[in-house]
Amino acid sequence: MNSSDNKKHWENVYETKNPDQVSWTQKKPQTSLDFINSFGLGKEAKVIDIGGGDSNLVDFLLEEGYENITVLDISVKALEKAQQRLGSKADKVNWIATDITAFEPTETYDIWHDRAAFHFLTTPEQVSKYIDIAEKNITTFMVLGTFSKNGPAKCSGLDIQQYDEESLSEKFKEDFEMIQCITEDHTTPFETTQNFIFCSFKKH
Ligand SMILES: C[S@@+](CC[C@H](N)C(=O)[O-])C[C@H]1O[C@@H](n2cnc3c(N)ncnc32)[C@H](O)[C@@H]1O
Repeated sequence: MNSSDNKKHWENVYETKNPDQVSWTQKKPQTSLDFINSFGLGKEAKVIDIGGGDSNLVDFLLEEGYENITVLDISVKALEKAQQRLGSKADKVNWIATDITAFEPTETYDIWHDRAAFHFLTTPEQVSKYIDIAEKNITTFMVLGTFSKNGPAKCSGLDIQQYDEESLSEKFKEDFEMIQCITEDHTTPFETTQNFIFCSFKKH
């Protein structure tokens, strides 16, 4: 799928579905918060959530006192929904609507978080663009959450790439050292289970 069709897909998802109607919704993204806090950087660390959609992660990061948060997503509608939910607190966040593979950052990020966006990149070209952007623009830490080899083959009707510890480590080995990986079962709003792998990395 090209970038414009991909954007249309996601705009349509966020125009037509509420959080309780999509599989990835989490009330509290505890694993993501635990990884981000485990890095031990101060609250002034620059944190970016890649493919953040209308995830509640930004709400909890704000609540915990993080001061430099950016949320990036291909869908404008997703970001608008998050902004509406946050009300005036949305002004404290940088919002970037772009395809991650076309992202041209104007600053670097100390913590790069991605839950269930990287795995939608299924061509070698898309994956290498993502890795290149991550390598150039992350100062210190990254945490990636994708469907595991025991997880679903699709998400939101789209093909995804499943990963395990070895394949994630291999993809980023040039500039990142893997710190820790865990797998976890995510319970969807429909009471089904999806197996994720989360890995954290430190820049060399
Ligand atoms: C499965 S949802 C996960 C949302 C959020 N990270 C969470 O955990 O709740 C995938 C998100 O990635 C976004 N996305 C998909 N492809 C993207 C791309 N190429 N660039 C930026 N965002 C993308 C979608 O709009 C959607 O918000």
